[in-house]
Amino acid sequence: MRPLCFDQVSVRNLRVLREVDLEPCSGINIVAGANGQGKTSLLEAIYLVATSRSFRTHKLRECIAHGASAGSVRARLLEDGQQREQFFAVSGNERVLKLDGSKPPGVAAYAVRSPVVVFHPGEVSLTAGPASGRRTLLDRVALFVDPRSYEHLVAYQRALKSRNRLMATEGPSSRALDPYEELLARHGSRLAIARRNAATALIQALLLALEPLAPASLKVLATYAPGGSDQEQEMLERLHAGRIRDSRRSSPGFGPHLDDLVLTLDDRPARVVGSQGQHRLLTLALKIAETGCVAQATGIDPVLLLDDVSSELDAERTDALFGFLAQRSNQVFVTTTRPEMVSRLRSEAPGTRLFEVVGGAVRIDPGSGAS
Ligand SMILES: Nc1ncnc2c1ncn2[C@@H]1O[C@H](COP(=O)(O)OP(=O)(O)O)[C@@H](O)[C@H]1O
Ligand SMILES: [Mg+2]
Repeated sequence: MRPLCFDQVSVRNLRVLREVDLEPCSGINIVAGANGQGKTSLLEAIYLVATSRSFRTHKLRECIAHGASAGSVRARLLEDGQQREQFFAVSGNERVLKLDGSKPPGVAAYAVRSPVVVFHPGEVSLTAGPASGRRTLLDRVALFVDPRSYEHLVAYQRALKSRNRLMATEGPSSRALDPYEELLARHGSRLAIARRNAATALIQALLLALEPLAPASLKVLATYAPGGSDQEQEMLERLHAGRIRDSRRSSPGFGPHLDDLVLTLDDRPARVVGSQGQHRLLTLALKIAETGCVAQATGIDPVLLLDDVSSELDAERTDALFGFLAQRSNQVFVTTTRPEMVSRLRSEAPGTRLFEVVGGAVRIDPGSGAS
């Protein structure tokens, strides 16, 4: 595995962070502070510069600091001893991306350059909540396993919106629906193939991740449940045949926008029967599996962004996570409000650096030994 780390991060006018410059260590970086000080914003800034997206919102303009017209993050990265730079800026709805000072060939090319995996409190609903979260997980894995899947996803979503709008305004017999159904069939079938491949990789990694975590008596299975078809012709026919029915709802009853990754516990749907502890366990295992898939696909150990995980995981799961971290060499950013987490991380892991966040200002702890 090639090591990757953020060597320097400069944030300007994102959320509560007006002007933050930090030099993380290549091991575990602890981001500590009380609630509302800017810890999650710092992880979000790192995620933005790595992926061009936020894990908190689809509306990038929400990330711009109140009163500012633009926000940005510049990162210097070290990959295998080589230095490189990524730059992300958002102004209104416009996004600027740069790899080593140049415009990247596309968003997907940018987003796979420096793999990161984030684990944040919103994700405890990953296995208990709606299928959309699990589709996003599949798409994140697909991006690395097959970067072209991103184009199919974007094109599919665009065509879906257009068909829905036309259906509402012109009705199910409009000829104008034809070209959008062709697009849906072309991109939807390819998206289904990419998601199935991603699911195969993810499920294999999930079972491996569960081995040390779950009691052997618990039978966990995961399967990709396609909402559409990987056959373009079949998709086209089903869309055409479903027009009347589709005209009575907001979106088609067939297609990958209905995909799911179904998890079962002892042959029953985890979403329904899982206890809170089991959902935490499955979510943690899915995140570890995502990390494994991205590492395998890229040859790089992804940087891990762990937001407030100790408040989401119980003691046993926190131990399991620490056990996982101790075996790996990834760069890690972990936020916490709890001083006892800080002392525990510092005593268990060699090479940590502590940052304190107060009112959007980030200060390195003087005892941290910046190198
Ligand atoms: N666009 C924005 N501009 C300025 N402040 C913001 C913006 N969005 C959110 N905030 C504020 O930033 C503060 C820090 O949020 P956050 O990073 O989530 O804190 P923490 O993770 O430390 O609890 C919050 O008080 C929030 O209200
Ligand atoms: Mg937070």
